[in-house]
Amino acid sequence: MCSLIHSKFFSILLFYTLGFLIFSPTQTASTFTHFNCTSKPKFTPKSTYQTNLKKLFSTLSSKASNNTNHGFYNTTVRGTTNTRATVSGLFMCSGYIDNCAECVRKSIRTLKTKCGFNKEAIIWSDECMVRYSNRFFFNTMEEKPSWCMQSTEDYHGPLESFNEILRSLMEDLLTQASETDPLGYKKFGVKKVTISEDKHLFGFAQCIPNMNKNNCTTCLRDAMTHLQTSCARGKIGGRVLYPSCIVRYDPYQFFPLPRDGEITTEMNSLQFGLSTIQEATNKFSDDNKIGEGGFGTVYKGMLPNGHEIAVKRLKRNSRQGAIEFKNEVLLIAKLQHRNLVRLLGFCMERTEKILIYEFVHNKSLDYYLFNPKNQKKLTWAERYKIIRGIVRGILYLHEDSHLNLIHCDLKPSNILLDSIMNAKISDFGLARIVAIDQMQGNTSIISGTYGYMSPEYAMLGQFSVKTDVFSFGVIVLEIVSGKRNVDFHGGDLIDDLLSYAWKKWRDNKAFELLDPSLKHSFSEEIRRCIQIGLLCVQGNPDQRPSMATIALYFNCDSLDLPSPQEPAFFMHGIKHG
Ligand SMILES: *[C@@H]1O[C@H](CO)[C@@H](O)[C@H](O)[C@H]1NC(C)=O
Ligand SMILES: *[C@@H]1O[C@H](CO)[C@@H](O)[C@H](O)[C@H]1NC(C)=O
Ligand SMILES: *[C@@H]1O[C@H](CO)[C@@H](O)[C@H](O)[C@H]1NC(C)=O
Ligand SMILES: *[C@@H]1O[C@H](CO)[C@@H](O)[C@H](O)[C@H]1NC(C)=O
Ligand SMILES: *[C@@H]1O[C@H](CO)[C@@H](O)[C@H](O)[C@H]1NC(C)=O
Ligand SMILES: *[C@@H]1O[C@H](CO)[C@@H](O)[C@H](O)[C@H]1NC(C)=O
Repeated sequence: MCSLIHSKFFSILLFYTLGFLIFSPTQTASTFTHFNCTSKPKFTPKSTYQTNLKKLFSTLSSKASNNTNHGFYNTTVRGTTNTRATVSGLFMCSGYIDNCAECVRKSIRTLKTKCGFNKEAIIWSDECMVRYSNRFFFNTMEEKPSWCMQSTEDYHGPLESFNEILRSLMEDLLTQASETDPLGYKKFGVKKVTISEDKHLFGFAQCIPNMNKNNCTTCLRDAMTHLQTSCARGKIGGRVLYPSCIVRYDPYQFFPLPRDGEITTEMNSLQFGLSTIQEATNKFSDDNKIGEGGFGTVYKGMLPNGHEIAVKRLKRNSRQGAIEFKNEVLLIAKLQHRNLVRLLGFCMERTEKILIYEFVHNKSLDYYLFNPKNQKKLTWAERYKIIRGIVRGILYLHEDSHLNLIHCDLKPSNILLDSIMNAKISDFGLARIVAIDQMQGNTSIISGTYGYMSPEYAMLGQFSVKTDVFSFGVIVLEIVSGKRNVDFHGGDLIDDLLSYAWKKWRDNKAFELLDPSLKHSFSEEIRRCIQIGLLCVQGNPDQRPSMATIALYFNCDSLDLPSPQEPAFFMHGIKHG
């Protein structure tokens, strides 16, 4: 399996990755429940209202057991003849858990027994909130009835700095909770902050997801003000519960937190809402489709601010967990270089996993190289610039970035070209993002592309930085010749480019390799490119130069190049003479 990292870094990274997966244990305080049978209007026993309320309860219970609802569901049961028998209701799990089916069932039992014939009621507990009413309340922001709960313990210490920490915690939670996609399932934030070496505060804020950003912000602000100035003033913990939003802080950890702690703000800036992406791509319309690859389909999109993006909608077979996925995205998004396509963010909602990249204007290298109509559009000067750009991009991945990433699937369709024909490598780290779960069970998965895979990788699954060097060599020879390494004619495999190039080189006829559509005279620069290409595709990985050496060859014309050995012609399974 490729995807990944120099082996020497592997164990460090694996440790790092797993670090995110192991949650610190959650401390549980005594379970909290508060209900309010919002008194006055009552319904009569055996009325349609009662029947409808029963239906509502059973719908909510069953929807709560369905994970695809992401911890929230609202529904209305209408009276067919009597509109006054219409009842609306919802449940919402606390944002940090996906399934609160048990809590919803318990809450409904409590409402049934405690709220008798009330037309309206609400119940809050640690894990969920359930509410129903004869009014249609989904779109309204409501702060009544409310409930305040405070810790019995005062904060012992300088209150001013405590309040300052609390205030900034609340601000961060408010930003997190209100920034989430307005049409998304969840609007919430969690955060841990440090008061002193061994003292922390854990905060949580959540809005009902069908409220807009303004209403969510207003509700949370009111709740936070109430919490800080009266409800839990000077206390080590407290919460304010409104029908439309919830705010809480406590000195102990009540939500699962990745051990590495605060990555959340960075993560939020990378997270796109599904509705934003749907809108940007015209609901993933075929007209927006710009590519199809092993990992998924790529669409062109435009954000409301006019920013163009490329959207990679990943295939739905990844079993990878949310936190692993996000952490991989975070790592890869940190890789920024002029010759790499920039990963701008991700979207993960419902069953979707989507990656959002900068949009690169002039398609990919294969579009030019292998299409007789387009070949002429690439001059030698541009091709040379592209080759050198690829070198810089790979060198950064291998040696200059903090990840020391091996690309493993370098090929012309992964070399994109921007508006000034600057090369940008795409799909780096993708195997890591998508397939990290496969890593645990199956190390035999090979994700390279036929024709660009080195022999040791294709046949033995062994990969190293030299795997990329091999692919780079193939690409260089393709750029010079305008021919694909592996080509099929009527089902017969013709001589592959590597054998052909080697023979021409050996026979001192390297000039015959040059793409005729270039109409460029053979030069020392071209000869050097062919020689470097051949050095890179040598059978023995140890004999192939490193990317740093290749960069040196390009930067230093006077440097003598070694003589290439005959490449390995593994693709036909027979050795050519
Ligand atoms: C869960 O919900 C989804 C979407 O609403 C639905 O397709 C699926 O059948 C439900 N599953 C169960 C077990 O109710
Ligand atoms: C949930 O509430 C929204 C309003 O926010 C409404 O448009 C939608 O129809 C409701 N869903 C159901 C199943 O009633
Ligand atoms: C925001 O809340 C107000 C007050 O409840 C309500 O009138 C309005 O419709 C809400 N807007 C949205 C988009 O939820
Ligand atoms: C229930 O809500 C009503 C209306 O907001 C309020 O007046 C009453 O005090 C609440 N009762 C309880 C027990 O919280
Ligand atoms: C590359 O993109 C620029 C700007 O979009 C355009 O003007 C130019 O014609 C393109 N070049 C090729 C070779 O397609
Ligand atoms: C590992 O991957 C190979 C190739 O895809 C597959 O044939 C094999 O069944 C997989 N093994 C496991 C244990 O998943």
